[in-house]
Amino acid sequence: MKFQAIKGVRDILPPESALWNRVEQAAREVFQTYGYGEIRLPIFEPTELFARSVGLDTDIVSKEMYSFEDYETSEVIEHRNAVLTFPETVSPLDPITPFRSFSDLASRFVSLAQEALDAGRIPRTPENEAVLRLVGQEVGQFRAYLQNRGIAENNLLVVQIKERVREIKFGDVLALRPEATASVVRAYIEHGMHTQPGNVKLYYIGPMFRRERPQKGRYRQFYQIGAELLGPSDDPSLDAEVIEMLLDFFARVNLHGAKLYINSIGDKNCRPAYVELLRGELQKVRDKLGADSQRRIETNPLRVLDSKRSEEQPIIDRLPHIADHLCDACREHYAELKRQLASRQIDYEENWRLVRGLDYYMRTTFEIIAAGLGSQNAVCGGGRYDGLVELLGGPAATKGIGFAIGTDRLMLSLQEAGATAKCGLEVYIAWMGAQAYPAAVALARKLREHNLSVELPAQEMKFGKSLNLADRLGARFAVILGEDELAAGQFTVKRLADGDQRKLSEAELLEYLTKSRTA
Ligand code: HAM
Repeated sequence: MKFQAIKGVRDILPPESALWNRVEQAAREVFQTYGYGEIRLPIFEPTELFARSVGLDTDIVSKEMYSFEDYETSEVIEHRNAVLTFPETVSPLDPITPFRSFSDLASRFVSLAQEALDAGRIPRTPENEAVLRLVGQEVGQFRAYLQNRGIAENNLLVVQIKERVREIKFGDVLALRPEATASVVRAYIEHGMHTQPGNVKLYYIGPMFRRERPQKGRYRQFYQIGAELLGPSDDPSLDAEVIEMLLDFFARVNLHGAKLYINSIGDKNCRPAYVELLRGELQKVRDKLGADSQRRIETNPLRVLDSKRSEEQPIIDRLPHIADHLCDACREHYAELKRQLASRQIDYEENWRLVRGLDYYMRTTFEIIAAGLGSQNAVCGGGRYDGLVELLGGPAATKGIGFAIGTDRLMLSLQEAGATAKCGLEVYIAWMGAQAYPAAVALARKLREHNLSVELPAQEMKFGKSLNLADRLGARFAVILGEDELAAGQFTVKRLADGDQRKLSEAELLEYLTKSRTA
C-alpha cells in the first residue's frame, strides 16, 4: 500500500517552506510594532464554540467542520467496542451460544453504561438517558426469546442493538478549528483578559480545517495569519489601524496589486430590519434564484449577496443596499472609518455586497483581493464583532475587530509574482584522506558556530565527484581539504558561481565566508 496525503491537504517542502517562514516572520515583526503579542491556541475546541460564534446556518458550521466525539478509554468503551464489532453468526450447528455471548456482553455494557451515566462520566443528557433505557429493554427482549428465533432474525436484532448503541454519546463533541476568532474570544474570557489595561492585541499563526471542495487556493487544511483586537472601545480609528497594520504587512512581503474592499453591515439595531426588507425583495424574485439562494431566503438572506452565480447577478444588483438602511450610529461609524482610512492614505473600494460568511460580524467588514489567484482570490477577510464576547459569556462591554490572512493564497500570489526561496546551503566541505576527515568535522563545527549552513559528506569521495555534488546541492562555496591543505595548514575555498579559488588560513576562511554571506 502506498500512502499519500489525503484529499485537500498537502506538504510544504523546502525551499518553499523557507518562503513561508520569511512571510510568517515578517508578520511577527510588523504586528509587534503595533503592540500585538502571539497567542498559541488549541487546534481543537468544542464544536459548540464554533456553532455559537460562526453560526449554525453558515457553510463552515453546517457542512465543513471536522467534528468527532472525544472520550477516554474505559471499561464501558471497551464493552461498547466489543458490542459494535461482534461478528455475525453463521453456523447452524450451534446457533444459540454466540447469541447468548452477545446478550451477555450487551447486558454487561448496559449496566456499565448506566453506572457511567449516573456518575456523570458520560454526558447525562435526556437523549443519552432515553437511548440507554431503550438499549436495556431491547437487550432484555433479545435474551428472553433467543431460542425461539431463527439465525437470520437474531442477527437482525444484533444489528439493531448495535445501531442503538451507536446513538449513545460518550463524550464531548469536538471540532478541528475552522477559524480562530472564536478561540481567541474563548481564551480572552477564560483568562479574564478584560481586566488588562488598554486593548488586548493578539495574533496567531497556524492551520485551520474546513471540509471544502479542494481546488487551487482552497484546501481542507489551510493556514492563517490572523490578528484580533479586543477592548472597551469600538472607535473607527481602531478599525483603520487594524487595516493599516495589515497593509503594512502586505507591503513588507512585497504583495503588490492587492485591493481593499470595505463595507458596513450594521448592528443589531438596524440590520434585522434590512434583513427583513431583503427577504421580502428576494421572495418576489424567488423563482429566478438557484436552489442555494432560495434556501437562504429563509436561513440567511444576507448570504445571497455572496452568490457568484452569473444568472443571479442582475437580480442581486437591484436589491436594496444596506448603506441606505444603517441606523445613525452605524452610518456615522462607517463614515468615520472612511475618513480615518483616507487620513492614512489607504486606498479602498466600497463593496455593498461584502457580507462575509460568518455570523459574528457587525458594522465594519473588509476583504483583500490579491492578483494571480483565479476564483479563490480573497487573501484576507476580517471585520468587527462587537457582540461576540458577550455571546460567549464574557463582559458585554468588550468590542472586537480582527482579520485573518489565508497564508496559502498569499504564498500563491507571491510566487505568481516571482518570489522564490533559495536553497540555504552555504558551504560544502569536500574532503579526501582519512586524516582529513577529523579536520573536516572540526571545520564544520566551527563554521556552524558562525551560523553558516554546512554540508559535510559522510564518506570520502574523489574531489571531482564531491565538487559536482556541491554544485548540484546549490552550495555557494566548496572548501577543499586534502593532504596538501592539511600539510600547509590551509584550506582551499572555491566560489562555485564563478570558480574563483583561493587558499586561506582558518581565520581568513571564517572571515571570508561570513563576510560573503552578508554581502
Ligand atoms: P474567513 O474569510 O473565513 O475569515 O477566512 C480568512 C481567509 O482565510 C480567507 O480570506 C482566505 O484567504 C483563507 N481561507 C479560508 N478558507 C480557506 C481554504 N479552504 N483554503 C485556503 N484558504 C482559505 C475568518 O476565518 C475570520 N476568522 C477572520 C477574522 C478574524 N475576522 C475577524 N477576525
